[in-house]
Amino acid sequence: RVLPRFYHERVVDHYDNPRNVGSFDKNDPTVGTGLVGAPACGDVMKLQIKVDPITGEIVDARFKTFGCGSAIASSSVATEWVKGKQMEEVLTIKNTEIAKHLSLPPVKLHCSMLAEDAIKAAVKDYEAKRASATAGTTATA
Ligand code: FES
Ligand code: FES
Repeated sequence: RVLPRFYHERVVDHYDNPRNVGSFDKNDPTVGTGLVGAPACGDVMKLQIKVDPITGEIVDARFKTFGCGSAIASSSVATEWVKGKQMEEVLTIKNTEIAKHLSLPPVKLHCSMLAEDAIKAAVKDYEAKRASATAGTTATA
């Protein structure tokens, strides 16, 4: 596999050995799914979180990315960073931190942006599911 030389070794590592690749059942009430696309290049990233409904802790994460090496590496890092954190904590993860961690060049910043957006979308999806589940309980009670 040939990657341009400007890639930092952490990118190559996360690209060759991506962490947490795969999917959870998106209908699982403890799962939040974020699906985002980059208009600039058409790449798509799906990031899922699995939440402990009692503690609100993100206990696991998965991703599937159809995109460039930087997008794959960014999603891999994102899944590692969200695990063990609270949802409000992961909302503060910035794409610039991911980009810095991977030493992404400026033209690849939008790839790390996908990861930030995907985390936010996954949290939003989980919260929307939880809200509608609560509403359902109230309605049938
Ligand atoms: Fe994997 Fe830092 S090298 S998250
Ligand atoms: Fe578009 Fe990387 S080139 S996500």
